Amino acid sequence: MNLVTGGTGLVGSHLLFELVSGGRKVRALKRQGSNTELVKRLFLWYSPDKGRELFDGVEWVEGDLNDIVSLQEAMDGIRFIYHCAAVVSFLPEEGQMMMKANVEGTANLVNVALLNDIEKFCHCSSVAALGIPQKDNIVHEALVWKTSGKNSRYAISKYGSEREVWRASEEGLPMVVVNPSVVIGPGDPARSSAQLYQSVKNGMKFYTSGVTGFVDARDVATAMVALMESDICNQRFILSSEDLSYKELFSLFAHYSGAKPPKYRAGRFLSEIAWRMEKVRSFMTGQKPLLSKETARNANIRRYFSNEKVKRTIGMEFRPVKEATENTSRFFKKYPVYLSPDFRMPS
Ligand SMILES: NC(=O)c1ccc[n+]([C@@H]2O[C@H](COP(=O)([O-])OP(=O)(O)OC[C@H]3O[C@@H](n4cnc5c(N)ncnc54)[C@H](OP(=O)(O)O)[C@@H]3O)[C@@H](O)[C@H]2O)c1
Repeated sequence: MNLVTGGTGLVGSHLLFELVSGGRKVRALKRQGSNTELVKRLFLWYSPDKGRELFDGVEWVEGDLNDIVSLQEAMDGIRFIYHCAAVVSFLPEEGQMMMKANVEGTANLVNVALLNDIEKFCHCSSVAALGIPQKDNIVHEALVWKTSGKNSRYAISKYGSEREVWRASEEGLPMVVVNPSVVIGPGDPARSSAQLYQSVKNGMKFYTSGVTGFVDARDVATAMVALMESDICNQRFILSSEDLSYKELFSLFAHYSGAKPPKYRAGRFLSEIAWRMEKVRSFMTGQKPLLSKETARNANIRRYFSNEKVKRTIGMEFRPVKEATENTSRFFKKYPVYLSPDFRMPS
């Protein structure tokens, strides 16, 4: 039996589909009050005929990374764990809560996994946990993290959580770590990288000069399962299909959504003004800012990623980013309700 944390999220929901559609037994941890409606839609999206039945095959249990008793209960009868739950945020006010969930929550999970003699653990980390390379150098798995003011709080939390998993492996937990770049796929447009699609669809006018890696959510799920079902242990793998500029990514989303691509380049100076204006707007309206200091600065950095190791080791083949953006756009065309600003997930 497999346990998946973060099953309601972008990565976790694709992983659930990959596991269940391959005939595996799955239990998924969800927090009290979190919603599985989008997961059900996703299953129907990928399998119109069997989606409902496959979704009903997932055993949902309530729990929280910061509630050790709930983790102990969730692990009853479990042999394999996929850890996809985390807080993904670049807002300073959510920093403390993110550290608690990502670092302390991961420590709780691996500690309970050690107590329960779990056979293998897959940790969904991030390329953010690898740190910042020298200018224009390609990021690979052996990059050594350096403390720097340029690391976002999110990156620090992902580095801290990955360290907990490496510590547990030293204490006897067989594990594998994946480090995806920006994941593209249908997900909650209010909180994941699906926000990128929504911004373009809403007519965003500006693009930034940054470059980064992108990967299809379906490929992240495929690689996680393949690595877990191999003999490979105690290694990390970058999961990234292609490096694209934000301009190229936004143009793909614009093409598939029928929106106009952003026209004006927002360099560092304009981005610095934009996040400050967003902060004022957020203060005046009480709404979450659409841009933070960290997202604005990250969006102007150029980062390039090597996917050679996972290709060489398990023969992984990545879908082009074009396919990932097309899949995401088609999903939201079919279910536009999720993009409505007034939409709230029913609980
Ligand atoms: N999206 C990307 O571009 C990207 C790129 C690289 C790496 N990653 C990594 O991939 C993983 C999944 O990210 P995602 O994009 O799927 O995020 P997401 O869509 O925001 O989903 C996050 C998931 O974590 C759960 N969660 C948050 N706090 C929790 C807690 N305290 N206890 C239990 N569950 C909790 C959420 O459950 P609720 O439904 O209860 O909120 C949700 O299921 C994360 O580790 C992230 O760092 C993501």
